Amino acid sequence: MRRLTSRTALFALVAAGVVGALLLLVSILKSPVIFGLRDDIKHAIPHQAVPEGVASLSAEACGVCHREIYDEWKTSIHAQAFDDPLFQAYWRKDKHIWVCLNCHTPLQNQQPEVITDLQGGRINRPVSHPNPDFDPSLQREGITCAACHVRDGVILGPFGDSVAPHPTRYDARFRSTEICYTCHAVPSDRFQFYNGGPCATFMEFEAGPYKAKGYICQTCHMPEVERPIAEGGPVRKGRRHLWRGGHDPDQIKRALTVSLAADRPVLTGARRTTWTLTLTNSGAGHMLPTGDPDRYLLAEFEVVDAQGRVRAGQRMTLSRSILWWPVIYEYADTRIPPLASRDLAFSYAVPIRDEGLTLHVRVSYHILTERAYARLQRKYGLSVEVPHAFTLYEERVPLREGTPQRQAAARPPRPRCAPSGEWTAWWG
Ligand code: HEC
Ligand code: HEC
Ligand code: HEC
Ligand code: HEC
Ligand code: HEC
Repeated sequence: MRRLTSRTALFALVAAGVVGALLLLVSILKSPVIFGLRDDIKHAIPHQAVPEGVASLSAEACGVCHREIYDEWKTSIHAQAFDDPLFQAYWRKDKHIWVCLNCHTPLQNQQPEVITDLQGGRINRPVSHPNPDFDPSLQREGITCAACHVRDGVILGPFGDSVAPHPTRYDARFRSTEICYTCHAVPSDRFQFYNGGPCATFMEFEAGPYKAKGYICQTCHMPEVERPIAEGGPVRKGRRHLWRGGHDPDQIKRALTVSLAADRPVLTGARRTTWTLTLTNSGAGHMLPTGDPDRYLLAEFEVVDAQGRVRAGQRMTLSRSILWWPVIYEYADTRIPPLASRDLAFSYAVPIRDEGLTLHVRVSYHILTERAYARLQRKYGLSVEVPHAFTLYEERVPLREGTPQRQAAARPPRPRCAPSGEWTAWWG
């Protein structure tokens, strides 16, 4: 008996030692961030001089002549990519590590430090010196005009025949997805086992059906418009600088078609009725939801009685399931690929002579979980309220005999945008 105990103790000690050594190894090999360092993410866009004919690199200086574009950009999340309270809270959590800035404030002019090397190639060992040309007000502009348009003292654009008070050069990337690639194809690192990378919107688009139809990211995120692109200039076909996404309920609703159907007219009694909620990603060129792995859709069924008490219910989450520790491992993905559907079923036996029951069905979009949000408030200084959950669909079905089998579809399934035209109606 004693021998057994001491053997068990020895075994436990060795096991603990092995586990400890493994955890130590993991913590040494583990990246301090949840993504990998592709070469173009390692560096800021090199310092840019102010092009001739423009007062400064700031968006406001461009806005003097490109008023409408400036006003649109100002309302976009690109303009808030640095001030964004969620970015600031997560950045604090990540101890203000330098690499985030290469996408959230991508120009060297926007960054307080110049990173010249990484000791041993490790992301948390940057070799740096203060940036003498750091412009704090430009930093607060996040993804500012110059981040996409200014290189080597020249303003790059999609036309090539414009007559501007500043030098211009045609750049084909503006009419392709390449201009979005650097920041929207976030890769994974070694020892990170994602299906495609932490924010893989670009890869999802490439693998999906829209590319072959001639769509690019701009088709849906920068609606086409005809107008003078600069005050007093000729009318041209250009695009609105709006980039609506997960923070805009109207944009998310454009992605989703919902229908609800019962397998028979509801009868009271022992037999169950099954309702099927069909969610179709009819309008996003990538997964729904995409981007930041915090995003998810929640579908809820509830049977509520006349007094408002919940008699039965069921909830389903459509998201990526990721084990974050000790290694990053994505073990499931229930998001909806472009033009695909998911059926979610709920069964309930409506009790005999139970009057006044109603089935509530709701679909909502979440930027992050309430728990993660509360943690950002508690630990990482999130002090302003950020809207982070939106209802996309809501239906109340009385559970009586003869309720029509098929509830009306919330929206007919049809593509929400075309490669050209048809756009003004979308944005009103
Ligand atoms: C003093 C007025 C003025 C200022 C300031 C100005 N622009 Fe322009 N820009 C113009 C005019 C005029 C055109 C040509 C319009 C046309 O031909 O339709 C133009 C053209 C452009 C084009 C199209 C180039 C092409 O050929 O595809 C881009 C892009 C552009 N500007 C971006 C910017 C950015 C970014 C800034 C700020 C760094 C800026 N502009 C500042 C007046 C200005
Ligand atoms: C320099 C990096 C960079 C480039 C280039 C870039 N983006 Fe972004 N984009 C970001 C970052 C960073 C955010 C998130 C900002 C935040 O929420 O703090 C973002 C957010 C978005 C959003 C989400 C908006 C929301 O409400 O959640 C959309 C849509 C988007 N970008 C589309 C595009 C498209 C289309 C292109 C190409 C024309 C593009 N972006 C180019 C970095 C970039
Ligand atoms: C995330 C990258 C990005 C940012 C930031 C950005 N633009 Fe653009 N811009 C584009 C793309 C892509 C196009 C090409 C649209 C098209 O196909 O006509 C474009 C086109 C333009 C044009 C030509 C007119 C048109 O509609 O095509 C002007 C002028 C312009 N941008 C000015 C600005 C100004 C001013 C800002 C800042 C207030 C700005 N841009 C910010 C990506 C960007
Ligand atoms: C067919 C239209 C369509 C195309 C093409 C498309 N998108 Fe979207 N995108 C949407 C819709 C609708 C949403 C809102 C629903 C969602 O989040 O999936 C969205 C959401 C987003 C978001 C918000 C994610 C977040 O975390 O909040 C980003 C970022 C984005 N798209 C980037 C891109 C990029 C980059 C491309 C090109 C590689 C692209 N989109 C192509 C329609 C489109
Ligand atoms: C390779 C480019 C890239 C890098 C590097 C990067 N981000 Fe982002 N980030 C994005 C893009 C693109 C989005 C928006 C679309 C999405 O959800 O994918 C985004 C969105 C976010 C959001 C969501 C913001 C919101 O309002 O919902 C947070 C938070 C964030 N990033 C924090 C960070 C932090 C912290 C770091 C550094 C550890 C970082 N990012 C590094 C590209 C990047």
